[in-house]
Amino acid sequence: MEIRATDTPRLDWTGDALAVSFFEDAVELTGDLAQLDEKFAGVLKELIEETEFKGSVGSSAVTRVGAGSSIRKIMLVGLGKADTLSLDNLRRAAAAIARLAKREKSKTLAINLPVVNDDPRATAQVITEGLVLALHLDNRFKSDPEDKGAKLEQVDLLGLENQEAAITKAQQICDGVILARELVAAPANAVTPISLAQTAEKIASEYGLSLEILEKEDCEKLGMGSFLGVAQASDLPPKFIHLTYKPKDTPRRKLAIVGKGLTFDSGGLNIKGAGSGIETMKIDMGGAAATFGAAKAIAQLKPDVEVHFISAATENMISGRALHPGDILTASNGKTIEVNNTDAEGRLTLADALVFAEKLELDAIVDLATLTGACVIALGNDIGGMWSTDETLVTQLKAASEAAGEKLWQMPLEEKYFEGMKSPIADMKNTGPRAGGSITAALFLKQFVKETPWAHLDIAGTVWSDKENGCNNSGATGYPVRTLVNWVLSDS
Ligand code: BES
Ligand code: MN
Ligand code: ZN
Repeated sequence: MEIRATDTPRLDWTGDALAVSFFEDAVELTGDLAQLDEKFAGVLKELIEETEFKGSVGSSAVTRVGAGSSIRKIMLVGLGKADTLSLDNLRRAAAAIARLAKREKSKTLAINLPVVNDDPRATAQVITEGLVLALHLDNRFKSDPEDKGAKLEQVDLLGLENQEAAITKAQQICDGVILARELVAAPANAVTPISLAQTAEKIASEYGLSLEILEKEDCEKLGMGSFLGVAQASDLPPKFIHLTYKPKDTPRRKLAIVGKGLTFDSGGLNIKGAGSGIETMKIDMGGAAATFGAAKAIAQLKPDVEVHFISAATENMISGRALHPGDILTASNGKTIEVNNTDAEGRLTLADALVFAEKLELDAIVDLATLTGACVIALGNDIGGMWSTDETLVTQLKAASEAAGEKLWQMPLEEKYFEGMKSPIADMKNTGPRAGGSITAALFLKQFVKETPWAHLDIAGTVWSDKENGCNNSGATGYPVRTLVNWVLSDS
């Protein structure tokens, strides 16, 4: 699909479908819209009346224009109240238009949306994101895909002339979001620690990033007993993946993104029972997926920032070699952990990954993890949880998530709750009481970061959606790749 920026007036555009937008309670055919209505024999007015189109957010209507006209179909899209217009609303409107065009089997489409915040660049970017992400369809595991109809071949963004760079930027970001979606959606017999390492290898060779894969023996030498404890029951080898993007000149900042990479989480001997959603636990590498998705985007965007993409990848399985509940592990910073629950495995793998990241002496570390069911209970499926030791980092991440249209909510690092993690025999347990479960998980991770500004994002609820939502289709969302990219690119 080609996306073009053009100054063609909507009156003069020719093609399959023309999408025009209206604010709520401001559906008036004035100016060139009156001319457009006249050109197509009053079809616009008729459509508005017939469908009682009011311009409310998410509403739309379509009709065929008389045969022999310069366009075949006209689409109306509601934007909601003018004073609530935001970049994210525009992204959602573009997604809605893309889905309509697909349903209507349009091959060429023109979109005419308002410019938000006097910023044509950001406007072209979010429209492109909405289009590309809403049209992404994952057919990899179907022998006979249903989607054989006409494909949208060309989209013209009217009134956004000269915004080619913004369109390209959006497409590069979408490349990363789509990689993350496809990694999460693929089952655990397709995405394994080995295949994740190969994905990193592919990004490294395609875009010239450096890659270090630590094998089990290398991790042993570094004393990563916590990560290796989780990995020990699997028949697949663990892979500690460290991909690095370095700019040509001296980096302005040095950052790390660390993603939980459990390619399957059975729970271990504290096995996930019936009704636990064990069959969905292929998504437990959502952190790693977003990490490598961000890498794919950053590698193309080439910011003047050094970024380390890290994941300690493994499965959490059962076998005669499995961790016994109650085993004591020693992490690479020397801290000892009583594993009172083998299903709290993500934090065990992240512990060693965070210690590794801190040794790189960076300006900030952000980890992302499908860490707790408790975070899903607290924030649902649309909002990720954020815990941090550094308010500057919090401000940066909030701004990045807002611009991305990926919601994040700051949660407390309530020190007192760490009492629940005290162990009589080791330095700490890996699991506290049920209450505040996402907070104690974050406090556990904090034990493995000494002084680098650090934030932890719990994305357990947000990496998957059962229904279509904005530019996400049902299934893997690619959350929070766009936020990560914005964060890396931001100047502060
Ligand atoms: N991978 C799960 C968390 C999860 C739950 C992710 C739902 C996605 C959707 C994690 O490893 C886990 O099992 N957490 C336990 C922790 C508990 C044993 C302290 C949980 O949340 O129940
Ligand atoms: Mn688990
Ligand atoms: Zn898990």
